[in-house]
Amino acid sequence: MNDAPEMAPYARHVMICTGAYCDPLRQADRLYHRLSHYLGELGAYDNPVRVKRGTTPCLGVCYGGPLLVVYPDGIWYHSVDDALLRRIVEEHLGNNRPVEEYIFHRLDGAPQPEVIET
Ligand code: FES
Repeated sequence: MNDAPEMAPYARHVMICTGAYCDPLRQADRLYHRLSHYLGELGAYDNPVRVKRGTTPCLGVCYGGPLLVVYPDGIWYHSVDDALLRRIVEEHLGNNRPVEEYIFHRLDGAPQPEVIET
């Protein structure tokens, strides 16, 4: 008998660090909950290109937060606040245009968002 769980399709996974070292003002939990609202249909379980979200106690950076990372893009953002979170959702996750001025690291070899010129 195989009782492995099933996973609905998704396109990206966003992780927010909730650790006290990079987020001494403890804003990350609030950002995580707001992310659900900002994602809207992008976060819907039956959307095949949905964005999953999660938190982690540490991403191994430990300053400059709140920190947020988008996979599989391997794009890391620093100093995330409400305004930047909205931009990440709208520009990066919604339109494949990462918010360049807040990126502090890119994973070598990660698939990059395909920008569609309009
Ligand atoms: S506490 Fe956030 S990266 Fe370590």
